[in-house]
Amino acid sequence: MQIVHTAAELRDALAGQADTAFVPTMGNLHAGHMSLVELAKQHGQPVVASIFVNPLQFGAGEDFERYPRTLAADCDRLAAAGCDLVFAPDVAEMYPVPQTFAVQPPESLANDLCGAFRPGHFSGVATVVLKLFNLVQPRIAVFGKKDFQQLLVIRELVRQFNLPIDIVAGDTLREADGLAMSSRNQYLGTSERLQAAQLQRELAAIVAAVQAGEHDEEALCANAARHLKMAGWRVDYIALRDAATLQAPSLGSERRVVLGAAWLGATRLIDNIEFAHPAASR
Ligand code: PAF
Repeated sequence: MQIVHTAAELRDALAGQADTAFVPTMGNLHAGHMSLVELAKQHGQPVVASIFVNPLQFGAGEDFERYPRTLAADCDRLAAAGCDLVFAPDVAEMYPVPQTFAVQPPESLANDLCGAFRPGHFSGVATVVLKLFNLVQPRIAVFGKKDFQQLLVIRELVRQFNLPIDIVAGDTLREADGLAMSSRNQYLGTSERLQAAQLQRELAAIVAAVQAGEHDEEALCANAARHLKMAGWRVDYIALRDAATLQAPSLGSERRVVLGAAWLGATRLIDNIEFAHPAASR
């Protein structure tokens, strides 16, 4: 596996490739990322992973400085998984001049849910992903469903800018107790870690209630938020949406998604569960 750090090296390494499958990451890789690499291998060749902690998508006071950087271990895992090339630029390589151009995702996507609590986050994500796409020029790119709103932002980016890239979505991998795998899980203290799967359990309870015929989705979300608060969480949101648009579901919305973001101490966790609505799919 080749490891390159500059755009020029990347261009040389990928010259003549037309079937590249790309997995963009911020590093600190876990089994969830590895499943995205496996998916990439099924869709194209060579498989390229990027490792870059993107300052543009972190707000003031967020965890940009303390975000775990584990390049050597990440490269070992990627090599073992059959990745062909790692692009690991530093900030000066990605942003050699101040990034005064930015991609602004549609307000309805960018300012809702996580975007309402992390202003500018999805603009930072879309901007770096567009730059990475221009550098790697993949035919397909793989993103995890764990970051469901990000996945929709990227799909819209590709659609509105006519990028010739297929976006492939990878399922969320979970720990044995149901907690979605995330690099941020390692911020959790021992007792927080024991509690952390409650977010997923509350979302699963909402899905089960809707599938059993409960119609008052707002009340279900409010109840879940109340349970989490009673257990000591600080809840940003619990919401049920149309899975294709992330807007409020209409009667005909077949695919729905329940999403949540909440804090345990200083750690913000997100999760979601996509499901078929029983009435809409009849
Ligand atoms: O999901 C991530 O790891 C990041 O948001 C991404 C897509 C690599 C952009 O920095």
